[in-house]
Amino acid sequence: MKIMLTHSYKGGSGKTLFSINVANSLVTEFGKRTLLIEADFSMAAFQAIFPENKPDLFLNDFLNSSDNNLENYIYPDTKSDFGIIYCDTNFKAKDQVHGSDQNFFLEKRKQLKVALKKLDYDYVIFDVTPGLHFFAINAISLCDHIFLMARPDIQNLNGLDLLLQKVFTKTVSLSRNSLKLYLIFNQLPKVDEMKGLLDRWSADLYTKYPFLQSIEGFYYEPETSYFTATSQFILPKDDPTRREITNFIKRNLMKT
Ligand SMILES: Nc1ncnc2c1ncn2[C@@H]1O[C@H](COP(=O)(O)OP(=O)(O)OP(=O)(O)O)[C@@H](O)[C@H]1O
Ligand SMILES: [Mg+2]
Repeated sequence: MKIMLTHSYKGGSGKTLFSINVANSLVTEFGKRTLLIEADFSMAAFQAIFPENKPDLFLNDFLNSSDNNLENYIYPDTKSDFGIIYCDTNFKAKDQVHGSDQNFFLEKRKQLKVALKKLDYDYVIFDVTPGLHFFAINAISLCDHIFLMARPDIQNLNGLDLLLQKVFTKTVSLSRNSLKLYLIFNQLPKVDEMKGLLDRWSADLYTKYPFLQSIEGFYYEPETSYFTATSQFILPKDDPTRREITNFIKRNLMKT
C-alpha cells in the first residue's frame, strides 16, 4: 500500500480537485484499489462534492475514538470505484481534531497507521487542510508520496519555501529519502513568458531543496474550471487537467 497526501501552504491551489482525480484515474485507468480520505477539518467539502452517500461516520469520529478499524468509515462513490472517508463539516469545539495538542495527533498517527495497514488498498490519498496543521504534519510521516501544490504568485512561493524549510527538509531526511516529494505549480497562466519563469523558479528550488523529485506545471484550464462550476469534480478523461493528472501518475507513480 502506498500512502499519499496532497498539501499546500495557501488555500485554493487545487488540492481537492487533484486528489479526487488522482483517485479516479488510479481506479479507472490503472486498475488500482484506491481510498480517498478527506482530512480538511476546517473546510470539509466532500459531502457537497459526493452527495450520493449520506455518511454518518466521519474521519473526525474515527480520530475521536480508539477504533482500529476503518472499514465502517468508508463509503463507495457511485460514479467511480474509489472508497471515500468523509470529514464532518460541523465544528464541535470539544473535538481535539480542531486543536493543537501535539500528543493527541501523535497518538492518532499511530492509530491511523495500524488501521490503514489492515485495509486492502493499493493507494490511499489524503486531502488535507492547507498550512501548518498538526494532522497534516503528523500524517506526512506515514506517507510515501507528497504532492505539494502552489499557485504561481509570491504568497504561494513564500508559503512553499516555509513548508519546505520547516517541515519537509526534516521529514525527508528522517525518512532517509524514502519520502518522495513532488511540487506542482497549478493554474499557470497560458502566456509565453510563463515557461521561462517556471524554469527559473524550478532551478532555484532544485538548488535549495535537492530532495525534490520533480517540479511540474499545470495550466489554468477554463474548461476544468467550468466542470467544477457545474459540480463535476471527477473530470472526464479528455479534460486537459485530467490528462495532465493521468500523465503525472504514469510518470511518477507507475514507474517501478
Ligand atoms: N488547472 C486548473 N484549471 C482551472 N481551474 C482549476 C485548476 N485547478 C484547480 N482549479 C479550480 O480552482 C479552484 C480551487 O480548487 P480546489 O478546491 O481543488 O483547491 P484546494 O487547494 O482544495 O482549496 P482549499 O485549500 O480551499 O481546500 C476550484 O474551483 C477548481 O476548479
Ligand atoms: Mg480543498
